[in-house]
Parts: sequence; C-alpha cells; structure tokens
Amino acid sequence: MLKMRKEVDFLVIGSGVAGLCFALKAANYGKVCIVTKSKIDEGSTRFAQGGIASVVYQPDSYEKHIQDTMVAGAELSDKHIVELTIREATARVMELVEWGVDFDKNKDGKFALAKEGGHSEYRVLHHKDMTGAEIEEKLILAAKKNTNIEIYENKIAVDIITQHHLGVEVTRRSTDITCYGAYVFNPDTNQVDTVLAKITMMATGGIGMVYEHTTNPLVATGDGIAMVYRAKGAVRGMEFVQFHPTSLYNPKESPSFLITEAMRGAGAILKDANGVSFMEKYDERGSLAPRDIVARAIDSEMKRQGVDHVYLDTTVIKKQEIFEHFPNIYAKCLSIGIDITKEMIPVVPVAHYSCGGIQTDEWGATSIRNLYASGECASTGLHGANRLASNSLLEALVFSHRACLKSVESLPSLSFCHEVPDWNSDGTVLNEEMVLITQSRKELQTIMSAYVGIVRSNLRLQRAFDRLDILYRETEDLYKKSILNPEICELRNMINVGYLIIRHAMSRKESRGLHYSLDYPPYKQ
Ligand code: FAD
Ligand code: SIN
Repeated sequence: MLKMRKEVDFLVIGSGVAGLCFALKAANYGKVCIVTKSKIDEGSTRFAQGGIASVVYQPDSYEKHIQDTMVAGAELSDKHIVELTIREATARVMELVEWGVDFDKNKDGKFALAKEGGHSEYRVLHHKDMTGAEIEEKLILAAKKNTNIEIYENKIAVDIITQHHLGVEVTRRSTDITCYGAYVFNPDTNQVDTVLAKITMMATGGIGMVYEHTTNPLVATGDGIAMVYRAKGAVRGMEFVQFHPTSLYNPKESPSFLITEAMRGAGAILKDANGVSFMEKYDERGSLAPRDIVARAIDSEMKRQGVDHVYLDTTVIKKQEIFEHFPNIYAKCLSIGIDITKEMIPVVPVAHYSCGGIQTDEWGATSIRNLYASGECASTGLHGANRLASNSLLEALVFSHRACLKSVESLPSLSFCHEVPDWNSDGTVLNEEMVLITQSRKELQTIMSAYVGIVRSNLRLQRAFDRLDILYRETEDLYKKSILNPEICELRNMINVGYLIIRHAMSRKESRGLHYSLDYPPYKQ
C-alpha cells in the first residue's frame, strides 16, 4: 500500500485537553489535523477527577494562588510564568464553560469550589469527581463539529521531521533546528505517512507508564518528550515525577484507580491500619500538605510498619456529600466490596504526573522553530519541583491559547518543506518475537520503580542507569532492524524518558520537591 503525504497548516499530536484546545482555536486560522494514537478520548484528561484550580471569588485572590503554586514548587517555579498562568486561568476556564463544560454549582448559583493539598483557599472547580471526562467530552464535541479539523485516530507519531531528515547535521548545540511536521505510523496500512505542517503542536501528555504502578492510561509513554529529545530539542526537569499519595490499593488493577485529593479537602484523613492518623508527625498541614510531602510520609509509614498500603478514612465525610460530589469513587469502591461511607479505603502512592518535559517559553514555543508544546509533555516553568494539585488542566488551557496566538502571527510567512523525503524502511524485517518488546517494557518499569521512585540515592540511580543502558542498546538495535509497530515505538520512547529522568536526577545534587535523595539533606524553604 502507498505511503500517504499530507499538508496541513497545523499538525496537533495528541487529543487531550492541550491538543483539543489548541486545535479548536487554530481552526479559526487554517486547516488542522489532529493525530492521536488511540481512540480520541484516550488520555489522562478524561481521568481527571479533582478539577481545575482557578481564582473566581473573594476571599481568594491571584496573589494567594500564585503564592501556593510557588510554595508547592519548592521555589523552583518561574515566578513570571506562575503569575501569567494564574492570572489568565480564569478567562480560559470561562471559555470551557462557553464550550459547554458544566461545572458544579451551589444552590445560590455560584460555582461549587473544592480544596486540595497545598491550596490555602477553596478554588477547585469540578464536575462531581469526573471533571476531566466532562471537559474531554465537550471539547471532542466541538472539535468534531468543526469543518477545519480532521481527526486521525489510532495513528502514532513516530518522529518529528527536521533538517536531520534532509541530511543536514543537527546537534544539541544547534540553534536553528526547524520542525517541518511529523512521520506518522498508520497500523491500517502498515506504512509511515509524512505529514508536513507549517506549525506542529506537541500535546502527547504524560509518562506514567514508565513505572510499574501509575494512575495514567496506557497511552502515557512520554512519546512527545522522547521525540523532541531525539530531535535535539530542549527537555528539562524530568527528575520531578509526581507520585499521587492516594491511589486505590488494588494490586491486580492497571492503571491504578485514583482517589481524588478533593476527598481530603472534604475532610478525609490518612490513617494506618490501627486507625491512627499519622500525617501530623510529618507536616503541620496534616493530610492536606503538598503531594510530595504526603507521598513521602506514606512511603515512610509503609516501610516502617512493613505494610503494602495505608488507609484513607472517608467515613468522616457526610454521606450526602459522598453521593453528590464523589459518586464515581463511591461506585468504584463498592464494586470491589468497600462501602466508603462505612469503611476506610486502602490507598498507596503511585506515579501520576511529570512536572518536567519539553522546555517552552511563555508562548508555548519550544527550542525548535515552528514546534510548540502544551499540557503535560511541556515544561513551561509553572510547576518547578512539584505541581500544586489541579494546576495542570489550567496550564494546558493557558499555554494552548498562548501558543495559538503566537503561531498565527508567523503562519503567513511559513511554507511547506517539499524536500522532506518519505520514511525510509529499507532493510527492516518483521519482528516476530513480541516477547523482546513486552519483556523489555516490564524490565524498564521494574528498574524505574525500584530505583527511581519516591526515594532515591546516588547508588540506586547508578544501578538504574547501568541497567537501562543495556535495554537502550538492545532496543535501538531491534528498532533499526524491525518493520515499525506501535509497541517498539513506545518502548523506545519509554527508555528515552527513563534515561532522561535518571540523568536529570543524577545531576540534581540536592533533595528538593519531588526529587528526594538519601544522599542530600532536604531543601529548606
Ligand atoms: P492527555 O490528556 O494525556 O492526552 C495526550 C494525548 O496524546 C492522547 O490523546 C494520546 O493518545 C496522545 N498521544 C500520545 N503519544 C502520541 C503519539 N506518539 N502519537 C499520537 N498521539 C499520541 N490535573 C488537574 O489539573 N486536575 C485534576 O483533577 C487531575 N486529575 C487527574 C487524575 C488522573 C487519574 C490523572 C492520570 C491525571 C490527573 N490530572 C489532573 C492531570 C491531568 O489530567 C493531565 O496532566 C492532563 O489531562 C494532560 O492533558 P494533555 O492534553 O497534556 O494529555
Ligand atoms: C486529584 O483529583 O487528586 C488529582 C488532581 C491532580 O492531579 O491535579
């Protein structure tokens, strides 16, 4: 079957909140093609529970939200980026309402606001405990109606196209790398298509699948970060992997089911098996301390007591509030025999969010010309060493909006690069041993979980690095010889991402925010 060549003004890779929001805006200025590697709604966005933090009513203020974000980020956040994001978030959230997103309201008609760890005020807008599903659904509806948007489901972007593909040497020191679009694998034809674009938006989401246990869906394999790194673009902050303190302890289930932090905001308390609350020993904010502190405290309690999980006592929340605000969690727990109005929920920390990623400026522009990044794959400077709960959906909205504003300025002066060659698959053969890929994936996850988790050390990181190096060489060799398939692409990307997490962790000679090493004393704010 023939390879396809396609030209679009805007190529958007990923169909979560970041990709869809950019696509909807860019469609006012040109033709948009969204490439997404699974079904359109498959991504972290639809699993978001707690909600979207935004300043809407007094006594809250932008200053308070900015301060909370800076404190959570262990002062590594970029103050300028924090200020502009928080100040612009309210307008972006109101756009969601215009697109039809139905945030819960109180009887007086005002938005019902929840509280989560690290927030000094109630400011989290939500749709029960299914906020992400509501947002994703309404954005998809709008995108499907838009005649300027084409959606390619079940197609995986393999690499972005740069001068490298024209035979020009590109190094990490090159300052003029340009993106001309992406090579996209189509499993229906088994061909790699060439999508030429004037502007490319990377919106591929998170990296959770690099670990054994994660709240992230299967698609979260860090593809965008790996693609940009391979194209010699700037990636930063990968040592800051956020572990969510409370996923449902249900070892057979993958991905892990989240128990939203909003439950602690509503009064739920972390306890040990004897029903004793332990967070006070670790932080005066108790169960509502920022996530890095809570996840480490749980990890420490589990190790001290030699147990696999702790508990979240939700019985202190009024029944009515559980039924109205947390129906999804109530139903899920009941389905495995736990009535959360009467019993405590067994919980355990798991990998949840990547604070690092593709480095962008205040317009979502990456170090590669005509390539933008937004959402979880981007590192805008908002999160620093630790993300404040419910600050990521709003970041995606703000930077997809900004990226659109900036990219349409340059659009009239851009043209397609017709010299880009088709994908070259000469010399590759069908890999008939899928076990080589599936086993390597498991090995990677084991290495990352054992040595590069919540608590690290120089020795653990070196071990991880040495073991990953073997996997890297074996996988690159297999990749060069094999006819492409999505599994080998993802494995390669996951190994790239694991390598970046380890390298960045090795070069941070301090314990700060989400990066905690036994070899360095904790950073004092
Ligand atoms: P995603 O929504 O993950 O979308 C990524 C897209 O990229 C997908 O469509 C995927 O298929 C596609 N893709 C990936 N690789 C490729 C490729 N190679 N080719 C083509 N397509 C590709 N944040 C909050 O602010 N509030 C919350 O309450 C909240 N709750 C959360 C609960 C859970 C369980 C999880 C997992 C996360 C939560 N987060 C929350 C974080 C937030 O949901 C995510 O950071 C955010 O949704 C990411 O959006 P995104 O558009 O960047 O990525
Ligand atoms: C949650 O609902 O606890 C998740 C919120 C987030 O990750 O921002």
